[in-house]
Amino acid sequence: MDGDRFPPSLRKVITDVLKQQPEKKIMCGIVGGVSNTNVIPILIDGLERLEYRGYDSAGVAAVTPEGISCLRRLGKIEVLREALEENPMSALAGIVHTRWATHGKPSEKNAHPHVSQAAIAVVHNGIIENHVALRAVLREKAYEFSSDTDTEVIAHLVNEQWKGGGSLLSAVQNAVQELEGAYSIAVISKNDPENIVAVRMKSPLVIGIGKNGNFVASDVSALISITNQFVYLEDGDVADIYQAHFVVYDKTGKKVERPIKVSDLSPEDVSRGGFLHFMQKEIHEQPDAVSRVLDGRVKDGKVLIEEAFGNKAAKIFARTEAVQIIACGTSHYSSLVARYWMEMESLADIPCHVDVASEWRYRNPRLHSRTLYVFISQSGETADTLACLNMVKEGKPEAHTITICNVPESSMTREAELTFLTKAGAEIGVASTKAFTTQLAALMLLTLALGRTRGMTAKKEAEVIVSLLTVPEKLREALLLDGELRLLAPGFGKKEHALYLGRGSEYPIALEGSLKMKEISYIHAEGYPAGELKHGPLALVNEEMPVIAVAPNDVLVEKLQSNLKEVRARNGQLFIFASPDVKIDLDEGTTVIALPRVDELVAPIVYVVPLQLLAYHVAVARGNNVDQPRNLAKSVTVE
Ligand code: M6R
Repeated sequence: MDGDRFPPSLRKVITDVLKQQPEKKIMCGIVGGVSNTNVIPILIDGLERLEYRGYDSAGVAAVTPEGISCLRRLGKIEVLREALEENPMSALAGIVHTRWATHGKPSEKNAHPHVSQAAIAVVHNGIIENHVALRAVLREKAYEFSSDTDTEVIAHLVNEQWKGGGSLLSAVQNAVQELEGAYSIAVISKNDPENIVAVRMKSPLVIGIGKNGNFVASDVSALISITNQFVYLEDGDVADIYQAHFVVYDKTGKKVERPIKVSDLSPEDVSRGGFLHFMQKEIHEQPDAVSRVLDGRVKDGKVLIEEAFGNKAAKIFARTEAVQIIACGTSHYSSLVARYWMEMESLADIPCHVDVASEWRYRNPRLHSRTLYVFISQSGETADTLACLNMVKEGKPEAHTITICNVPESSMTREAELTFLTKAGAEIGVASTKAFTTQLAALMLLTLALGRTRGMTAKKEAEVIVSLLTVPEKLREALLLDGELRLLAPGFGKKEHALYLGRGSEYPIALEGSLKMKEISYIHAEGYPAGELKHGPLALVNEEMPVIAVAPNDVLVEKLQSNLKEVRARNGQLFIFASPDVKIDLDEGTTVIALPRVDELVAPIVYVVPLQLLAYHVAVARGNNVDQPRNLAKSVTVE
C-alpha cells in the first residue's frame, strides 16, 4: 500500500491500521444473474448447490422497482428462504451469497450483500488486503460502515465512482483499481434493473450462459441445472452481464472473447442420488472413479504417457532428477503414500520430497530446474498450493510443473505446465474421499511414467498395472464392509480420542483415516507411524483408548504385531484392519476387520476405504453434519 497517495493527516491512521489483519474468508459462495423471469428462485437454488462449501450466513440483493432490496440472515439458506417467504422479492437482476468467516463474527450485519447508500450492492469472495486503509479514506468522504467486513469498502468504492456519473461497468472498473488482494465480486446498482457486473481476481468466477438469462457463480455446480455452457473468467476480467448478452473486458479494459466451454457435469453429479449424505455417495463412487483414472491411460501393460500427462510429458520426465510434491490436507497424505512409491528402487527410484504447501512456501526453498514440481489438489483452488505453484513458475521458470487435480478449468490446471485430471466427478462432501483414492491411482501412474525413464523394467511396469487394474474390484469388496463398520460406530462414537497406527505406505493411510475421523466426528484422532508408539503416544493408551491399526500383509507386519502387543499390554482397545493373510492373536480387546486380499503395492488405495466408512458411520452415530462439518469449508481459497 502506498501511503503517499493519501493526505498527510491520514498517513498515520493508515500506518496504524495497516498493522491490523484484514478479515479473512474462506470459500464464500457467489451466484448472480439477469433473467427474463424472476431471478430470485434461480439464484437461491444455485446458492443451495454451493452449500457444500460451508458457510455461516446467507443473503440476497436485487434491483426491484423500489430500488435495491436486500435480505440477509445468519444461519442456513433455509432461514433466508423463510425470510423471503415473509418478504417476497421479485427482480430480473440479483446477487446472492453464502459467507464463511474466519475473522469477524458470523452475524447478520457481516453477511453479504453489502449495500452502499441504498444504491450499490456487492457480494464478494476473497480478501481485500488494503481494506483498512480504504476504510479510512472512505470515512473521510462521509461513508458510514455498518459491518466489520473488508467487503463493505468495495460497495462504497463502486458507489463513489458511480455517483460521478457513467455506467455501472465503468464504476466497477475504476473501483477495482483501488483494491489489493484476491476477490471475485458481483455488483448491482439501483438504476440498472437488468444488469450485473462481475469481476474475477485470484478467486474463481464463471459465467453460465442460460436459455433465459446469463449468470455468474463461484463454480459451475451452482448453475448446472440451468446450463452446461460456461465461460471461465481470467484474473482481472470484468464482465458486463445482461439477460441476452454479456461482454468481457480484460484487466486493461480491452474487450475480449473468452471461449465457451461445455461442462460434462450433470445435475445428478451434484445431487445425493439416494444416499443419505454426499460423503456416503462419494465413498461408494470410488470403484468407478478409480476406473476412470485408468481408462485410456494404460494399455498393454504400459502407461500411455502422452494420453495421461500430455504431449510434452515424456521429454519433461526424461530430464527429471527429483520430485517435489506440494499439497494440503488429504492431498498431502496421498503425496506421502506416493513418496514410498517414487523412491522404491524397483519403481521410479527417484528422490521425492513431500511438503505441506503452507510450510513450503515460507521456508524459502531452493528451487531446482531439474526437479519436477507436483501440485496435488482436488479443487485446484487451494490458496497455499496455488501460491507454491506460482512461486515455482516465477522463481525458476525453467523448472517443470504438473498438477494432479479433479477440477478442469481450475486455477491450478490453468497455471501448471502439465495437468493430470483425476476425473473423480464433483466432490461435494467437505471430507475428501474419492479425491484421495483417485489421486493415489494417478500418482502410481506418474511413478511408473518416471520409472520408465529411469530403468524400471517393462515387466515391473506391466505387473504394477495388472495390480492397479484390480483396484476397482477390490474397492467394491472393501465397500462390503459397510455393515460391519456401521455396527462398530455406536461404541466408537462414545470415545473422545483415538490413535491410528500404520507402517510403511500404510502410515499415511493411518494419517488420512485419523483426519477423516476428526473432521467429521470431532473425535480427537491422531495418526502415528506404529514404530513411534513407544516414543511417546503409548503414554496415552489405556482401556479408554481405541487404537486402529492398518495391517497389510507386508514385510513390516511382524514389527507392527509387536507394536500392537504393546497396546494390548496397556489394555488399549485394538481395531485391526488387516489383510486376511495376517495372523493376529485374538483376545476380547481386539477386533479384526478383514480387508480384501490385494497386492501390497496398491493396498493403500483400497485400505483407506474402511477407515472412511468408519469415520462416516461414527459421525452419523454422533448426529453430526457429515457433509458440512463445523468450522470447515470444502476448499480453502485464501491463506
Ligand atoms: O482441494 P484440495 O485438495 O487442495 O484441498 C486440500 C485440503 O483442504 C482438503 O484435502 C481437506 O484437508 C479435506 N477437508 C480433507 O478431507
